[in-house]
Amino acid sequence: MRIEIREACAGDGANLTALQTRCPQGTSIIMRIVNIPDFFSRARLYARSKVFVALRDDEIVGSAACALREGVVDGKPAPVGYLFQLFVAPEARRSGLAGQLCRRREEYLEERGAVLSYTLIMEGNKPSIRYIEAQGYEHRRRLRVSCLYVHEKLDVETDARIRTASAADLSAVAELLNTTWAGHELREPVSADSLAAVIGRIPGYELDNLLVAERDSTMTACAGYWQWDKFMDITVESLSARMKLDALRIKAERLLHPMPDSLKPGQRVRQMMLTPMAFTDPNDLAALVRTIGNIGVDVRADVMYALSEADSPLVNTLADYIHADSDVHVYIKPFSRDIRQDSPIIVPGTDL
Ligand SMILES: CC(C)(COP(=O)(O)OP(=O)(O)OC[C@H]1O[C@@H](n2cnc3c(N)ncnc32)[C@H](O)[C@@H]1OP(=O)(O)O)[C@@H](O)C(=O)NCCC(=O)NCCS
Repeated sequence: MRIEIREACAGDGANLTALQTRCPQGTSIIMRIVNIPDFFSRARLYARSKVFVALRDDEIVGSAACALREGVVDGKPAPVGYLFQLFVAPEARRSGLAGQLCRRREEYLEERGAVLSYTLIMEGNKPSIRYIEAQGYEHRRRLRVSCLYVHEKLDVETDARIRTASAADLSAVAELLNTTWAGHELREPVSADSLAAVIGRIPGYELDNLLVAERDSTMTACAGYWQWDKFMDITVESLSARMKLDALRIKAERLLHPMPDSLKPGQRVRQMMLTPMAFTDPNDLAALVRTIGNIGVDVRADVMYALSEADSPLVNTLADYIHADSDVHVYIKPFSRDIRQDSPIIVPGTDL
């Protein structure tokens, strides 16, 4: 049997989509994730990314991607690598392919100066947790994935002025982001130019997707949203025990007042991601989140997601919503420098 690991090329797209469809993720929460409109659209969200494939006797049986970006490590900016989108055909598992794909990605990242590599694994994905630990990654942090149901419009009561951002706001947005998340490891330091580059690069993410709140001409909060379902078809295969309990709670509460439909196996989830978010005034951020939730109702989204530390003040700004939360584990392998282990972490919402 001949095994080859190589960079993916455009001609691999259709085979990769077919294989990704056969590889749902997780063991307790199981989700089938398929990139749209084409396989490589997910990797294109990053300015510097690479997709690899594993071939067995010339047939694609696995794939994995990685991205390189600036991130704060031990308080200072440095290139960091992010590993994502790993899957191996069910019939080719437990023969070391994921391990080989991992090493190939690490070589790519190290050659380009990454000081560490990190990855995110959803709670309960035991094969992935065992695999990443076998590759020498350490569990460093558990982040909260808040899944907010957007079934009805909520009142937005605030004295702040809420509006969509313009290009002239990007310096103030960058400053607010850098200040809000100072002290967080892996955060991406941003500038007006880097934010403009992200907006230019991500299809469907325009300045209109970024909202700001102001008081006396001072920006007090900003929040962006990204329609995730334009990049990935996500279908629920099965829910975790915690999510099943949430579904029961929602069903019981429906007897008393209107409640959303909870996620169900077989459902294709229309979702939005709240990213980026920053604030000096959490109440104004809450007003922005409600404004975005109301846009979600208009575009018929099922849920909005936010990714943060579980004890971040940001989580309180989401409290108006019925939510079903889960955890994502952050695993890190230092190449030449490590994060401050007791510091909080923040990663871009697009990583999820
Ligand atoms: C996770 C996945 C990529 C592993 O692929 P793989 O090629 O089978 O992994 P490897 O053969 O390289 O396994 C490396 C190690 O990981 C661990 N591991 C992998 N699969 C495992 C499983 N089902 N149960 C327990 N441990 C497992 C083992 O320690 C294994 O070493 P061993 O076989 O010597 O015991 C594969 O199961 C998969 O595609 N899952 C569905 C998609 C997914 O969840 N992707 C990850 C998203 S973060």
